[in-house]
Amino acid sequence: MIGVLVSGNGTNLQALIDAGLPISGVAANRKDAFALQRAREAGIPVAVFGLDCHSTREERDRMMATWLEEHEVELVVLAGYMHLVTRPFLVRFPNRVVNVHPSLLPAFPGLHAIEQAIAAGVQETGVTVHLVDEGLDTGPVLRQEAISVAPVDTLEERIHAVEHRLLPEVVRSLLTDPAFATTTAKEIS
Ligand code: GAR
Repeated sequence: MIGVLVSGNGTNLQALIDAGLPISGVAANRKDAFALQRAREAGIPVAVFGLDCHSTREERDRMMATWLEEHEVELVVLAGYMHLVTRPFLVRFPNRVVNVHPSLLPAFPGLHAIEQAIAAGVQETGVTVHLVDEGLDTGPVLRQEAISVAPVDTLEERIHAVEHRLLPEVVRSLLTDPAFATTTAKEIS
């Protein structure tokens, strides 16, 4: 089963739901994340692990890992989850946490990857799906797809369309092929 971590709109969560992937829990770091509504509508259990209710990030992450384990999660997907995950979380799901990011990492990590690619004047940006480590959008790459920056006015929409195709594909491979992560992952930094 899959656990999905979200912070915002949840279009990537929706793509995973629409792909029919087995999601047993969705957790957010903020209670107003629209993604939670998408999960509820799909009948998926939800929980909120805000930093206001836990003394440290590590403590929050331990509780979140326990909740996911209680929901029989073996693979965790960060789908627009805008907090770093800490070591106490990662050790509970070794090599089983993946993230989607709207750039060709290691270029433009962080919260504003699309705007930064436009501001930098690069011709190509893209989408990366990667295994998660303790860094900011770092960790071995599973899939990347390049996207032309021009025309700029449709870039965001084109990036999201690629994310919504690539993320479910990679997640399905991780679920069905136990060797996928080790045979596919490439170090990028
Ligand atoms: C997505 O574009 C995702 O790649 C990005 O946040 C957006 C979430 O959209 N993630 C990051 O920037 C991670 N550093 P969504 O909530 O509609 O899926």
